[in-house]
Order: sequence, then C-alpha cells, then structure tokens
Amino acid sequence: MVPGDKSITHRAILLTALAEGTSTVSNYCRGQDCLNTMRAFQALGVRIDEEPGHLTVHGKGFWGLAEPSGPIDCGNSGTCIRLLTGLLAGQDFFTVLSGDESIRCRPMGRVVKPLREMGAVIAGRKGGELAPLAITGKRLHGIEYLSPVASAQIKSSILLAGLFAEGTTRFGEPRPSRDHTERMFQFFGIPLARDGKTLVLQGRPAMGWAGNRVVIPGDFSAAAFFIVGATIVPGSDIIIRNVGINPTRTGLIDVMRTMGADIQILSQREEAGELVADLRVKSAPLKSIEISPQLIPRTIDEFPILCVAAAVAQGDTIISGAEELRVKESDRIATMSVELKAMGAQITEKPDGLIIQGLGRAAENGRLKASGRAQSHDDHRVAMSLAIGGLTADTSMTIADTACLETSFPNFEAALSALLMHHP
Ligand code: S3P
Repeated sequence: MVPGDKSITHRAILLTALAEGTSTVSNYCRGQDCLNTMRAFQALGVRIDEEPGHLTVHGKGFWGLAEPSGPIDCGNSGTCIRLLTGLLAGQDFFTVLSGDESIRCRPMGRVVKPLREMGAVIAGRKGGELAPLAITGKRLHGIEYLSPVASAQIKSSILLAGLFAEGTTRFGEPRPSRDHTERMFQFFGIPLARDGKTLVLQGRPAMGWAGNRVVIPGDFSAAAFFIVGATIVPGSDIIIRNVGINPTRTGLIDVMRTMGADIQILSQREEAGELVADLRVKSAPLKSIEISPQLIPRTIDEFPILCVAAAVAQGDTIISGAEELRVKESDRIATMSVELKAMGAQITEKPDGLIIQGLGRAAENGRLKASGRAQSHDDHRVAMSLAIGGLTADTSMTIADTACLETSFPNFEAALSALLMHHP
C-alpha cells in the first residue's frame, strides 16, 4: 500500500552504482526524487535498467563514475543534491548540480562548508550557500566535523566525501539523525566504525564492494498519513503491510501512542539491514502532547501530519525546537499553520514550532472544516496532510497544486481512495 522508502532508495542507487557488478533494487520508490537520483547516476555513466518491480544497476566500481556532459537536475530533492555534492567533491571531474525553484532556495552551505574544509572546490550562488553548485573534483582529506544540525543529509554527504578522501573522517551530530547510510554501508561491507557518538571512516578502502540484492522497505513517512488518518476517522481498522520501522524514523509511533493512538507492530522482520513490520491501526480519541526538541529528528518528515493529529486532539499541543522545518520543501511551520487555520484550527506560530489548540472534546476527536482555498505550496507532505485532515470535514474540499505528490508517493490518491471504499 505504501511506496518503497525514499531515503533508502536514494542510498541503494548510490551504493549499487559504486559496487563491482550487478545489483537489483526491488520495491524502490518511484517518486520523482528517486528517479532524479537514478537519472543522475545514468548521467554519471552508470547503466540502470527499470524493470517491472525492480531496478537493475550495473555498478561501475569505486572509481568508475564519469564526467556528465551537462548539469545534473536534482529536481525537488534535498537528499539527491546534498549526497551528490559530497560524493562528487572527491571525483576527478567537474559537475554542476541544480534543481527546481524550491531546491534553489534551500541551504547548501551546511554541506559546502565542511566539504571545503576537506579540500573541496565548490562554487555556487551566494558564495556556495545556494544551488546551482559547480563542483571541481579534488583530492580530499578527512576531517573531524561536529555538525551544528542533526541532519542525515549532512552526515551522509560528509561520509560519502570521506569515502573518497585520504585519511580518516570523524563525524558527530547534536542528536541522532536517521541512520540509513550507516546501515547500508554495513550491508555492503563498507567499514564504518563508531567511537562513542562519533562515526569514524577510513577513506579510500583497500577493497571495493560487490553488487547485491537490495529490498527496500515500505516508507514509514508515507505510512504516517494512514496511521494518522485511521486514528482520526472513526470506525477505522487498517493494516499497513511491509513498513520500515527503523527507530530513527518512528518517533510518530511514540508520539501518537502517547496521544492515545492504537497502533500495533506485527510480524517484525529484517530486510537489507533495516527493520520492517506490518502496522495495525484502529481509530482512537487523541489527547494533546508536548513535543520537545529531542523528538524532532525522529519525527522530522512527519511534522505536517502530526499537526493534523494535534488539530483534532483534545488540549493544547506544543511543538518546539523544530526550526529545521522552515527549510524543507516548503516552510512547513508557516504552510501548515496557514492551511490548518483555513480549516478552522486554532494555531499560534512560533519561530521554532507551533502551539495548536486541539478541537477535540473528552474522548472524541474534533473535526476540521473544508477549506475554500487549500494549497499544497508545492510540498508533497503538506498536500497529503491536508487530504487526511479533510477526511474529518463534513463537506468535500479541493487541494490546489497536487502534482507534487509525484515527489514521494505517486499513488497516494489511489491508495487513499481504496481505503475509503472499504470504510464501513
Ligand atoms: C533525509 C533526511 C532528512 C529528511 C529528508 C530525507 C535523508 O533531512 O527530512 O526528507 O534521506 O537523508 P535532513 O537531513 O535535512 O534533516
């Protein structure tokens, strides 16, 4: 029911492209973000065949990438542009990376600055703060870097540069961000050590790695819309099969359970180094919660849908330390605040979060109303969150600009319609 995980698909394409020999990547995410990463590697000389149900990646080996003849378009994808910047900084050729209007407004200095410390030569708008980025491949050297932000994109960018750098790279972050890169390094046998909370990587490993069969788990961040939807639409009882439940991603389960949700984790198993399970969710009345900064990295992409849950819960939900949300596909603090207010929610915006006065009453979730002018702001997660919020309204609602659903969940409308058809 949910597509393959977007974050893991990017990493699978990247590491199979650098492997020796052929790999298959099944249940991959066919969202535009991952297709952009696939096309980027094709432009870097890697043969990737899209076959029914899987990709076949003909790996070029550790130093096997080739200079692309034109700029690489990363579209809307922060993961694509930031991971590629790290990877390409240490190659022996020149690349230009760009993307859509949103990506060209998002901060790139967070990877460009540490990469320059490693010896990278990267030019870009505003001194390298904004894409397009022009990367002149150089011999890099390892550094010790303590990132000021908990971000898997920064971590992965530095680790990928560190892989091609001379010497040792050490990386730390203020709170643990998603660890898919570390898990996939381990799956392919790429040595990566830990010294307390610091990751330690020896650059230029003596041996490359072999191609493999990678099975991508369903995307927890896509499942999140149905977890909240089933909770707030009375009479629901659904099972979402084959969902990744990596603990660095599943903060929403903890938050929703504290709010009163009924979520069961069934048939837990492992695929390609990642935990996977089926999730059963039944409707339940929600209470408000205080979400502290520590919880933000584990719920980072679930913030828009969490706002919907909070809007119908009983009591005041306070979200703090979430300033990173302002530099996502849209400024999600602002966009969710504006859109949910238009649906009758009571919201106060803070620089680093929101206060949401829930519409619920004792043991009964509240209902939003149909907005006359709902906008996605070209942000896939905002569009899907508003659609789920709209299920609680008693009249239908139109959301403008939903082409962005293609970013991560092209089948969202069909999956939601199928669920609603079976609803009693
Ligand atoms: C991602 C990391 C997160 C997340 C994004 C995907 C990744 O971004 O919000 O959707 O695949 O590494 P940050 O690392 O900027 O927090």
